[in-house]
This record gives sequence, structure tokens and C-alpha cells, in this order.
Amino acid sequence: MSTFAGSNSDILKLQPKLIVHGGAWNIPAAYEQDHLHGVQTAVSEVYPQLLAGASALDAVEAAVRILEEDPTFDAGRGAFLNEAGQVELDAMIMDGATLQVGAVAALQNVLHPVSVARRVMEKTEHCLLVAEGALRFAKSMGFEELAPEELLTARELKFFEEIKNQEGFKTHHPFLNAPSDTVGAVALDCFGNLAAATSTGGTARKMVGRVGDSPIPGAGAYADNALGAVSATGWGESIMRVLLSKTVCDLFENNEAMEAARMGIEHLAQKVQGFGGIIGISAKGHYAFSHNTPKMAFCFADPDGSTNAFIKCPR
Ligand code: GLY
Repeated sequence: MSTFAGSNSDILKLQPKLIVHGGAWNIPAAYEQDHLHGVQTAVSEVYPQLLAGASALDAVEAAVRILEEDPTFDAGRGAFLNEAGQVELDAMIMDGATLQVGAVAALQNVLHPVSVARRVMEKTEHCLLVAEGALRFAKSMGFEELAPEELLTARELKFFEEIKNQEGFKTHHPFLNAPSDTVGAVALDCFGNLAAATSTGGTARKMVGRVGDSPIPGAGAYADNALGAVSATGWGESIMRVLLSKTVCDLFENNEAMEAARMGIEHLAQKVQGFGGIIGISAKGHYAFSHNTPKMAFCFADPDGSTNAFIKCPR
């Protein structure tokens, strides 16, 4: 793992790492710049905090909050609508140092589900709260309950109108041609701790109460300091069937980081004909990313803080 000497020479600090994604799907050319700008903003705002000593958990929460706020993405504001025309949000956060995890699913009217997930992890004895119970908990923690329209965008309303009565519509079809997707972040802090977080509005026209991979530990994200940390994006029903994030973390143990990412996506495609993408950081501190969708928006930081943003994996 790359290292640098901190100001206190007794403490060997690690070089922090940060990678974020803004969804794996067929991002139309007209939306590419917004996606690149969104992921780059998250990294350029949060990486300096990691350099200054922020924890990996704080970093992934902060990065995902930026992406939830950005209407470009299917998370927080700008999320897909379910079959009833409502926004229902899923999110999780995981601490690689302790394997503690917090998650929420089918949460309505809250802008930052990732922060509610973190409170679930830190303030309850549970890992996952859903729907009305998740909202009640969020309000008890001081989160503002927004009017439903505040998370809606004109783009998503228009898209919903286009697909709501479409014959033969399947919820995974929009991954090949839709306006947005899931977000996530993975960080390694200068104390050697890893964390991962994922947040989503799920799939367009999903059934009311449908929960995807994002809030399921091992599926939508996973973090273990001994292995690595991963956040996934893509077709949730396929990702959860192969526990994609945990699978890639396990593959980190005996493979180069990029090879582990490639093998995980190949496993998703071969086992369940799934599609999606992952970002990660191995326990050795190496970045990993791969997808089998036409595109995936992602960005990672170099040690000097410069950002590397991509709309698909460089070949
Ligand atoms: N990967 C997001 C979802 O399927 O819900």
C-alpha cells in the first residue's frame, strides 16, 4: 500500500483513496457532461477532506450526499418514479473496520437516505429499516420530511409519462436507455480504514415496495478492511442474486484489483445474465472498476488531488 510520512513522524499515514460512480447504463450523449461533472464534483470536494484526516465513513457519506443532491442521478432528488408515480429511495453505508452496516429501503420524502442509513448503523441495534418505519426513524433523528414534489424532477415526470402505459415494459429495460442511475462511493482513509456507500431511486416503474440491491449488504455495497470495499450499480435483481459487491471483495484476496473487478462483472453476466458495474478499492489500496453496460460514470482521485473522470472504462 502506498504511504507517506505524516507531520508526526511517529505516525505512518496511508495515502487515502476515493472513487465514486454515477451509475452504469447506456448514458445518452446529451447527459454525459452532467454525469462527468457530477462525479468529478463529488471527488474534488471530498478528497481534500480525506487528505486532511477525515474518516472513510465520513468521506463516502459526504460524496454520496453530493450525488443525492444532484438531479442528474437516480438518487435523492431526480430519482426514478415507481409504478404509482412516487419516489422510493434505498441506501446503505458500511464500515470496513467493524463490518457495521446501516441501510434504508423504500424511504420516501427524505433527500439524503445515505445519512439516514448511517444513523441506522450508529443509533440502532438494526441494520436495515424500511418504508414508514425508516421515515419515522429519520424524523426522530431530525431529518426534514420533504413534500413529495421536492424530490421530483421534470425529466423524471416526463420519462414516467412515456413508460407508464408501455406494453411489455420490464423494469430492467431503462438501464439500456433511460435518463439516470444509482450512485456510490468507496474510500480508504489515511488510517487504513475502508468504507462504501450506495444510494438509489431503484428502477423506473418498479412495484411499490420493491427493494433493489443497493441497501442489501454484499449486493449493493460491501466493506471489509481485510479484503477491500465495493459499491455496485446496475440491474438490482441480478446484482443481489450474485451478491456482487461481496463477490468482488472476496476476489480481491487472490487477484489484482482490476482483475477482480473484471471477474466479478463476468460472473454477474454468466451466472444470471445480469448487467451493471462496480467501483472498489482493494485492501492493498488499489482502485478497481468494471462494467458490462455500454457506459458507467465514475471518477477517482490521484494522490495530488487531481481527478480522473470517465464515462466508460478506458480500454
Ligand atoms: N441498482 C439499483 C437498483 O436496481 O435498485
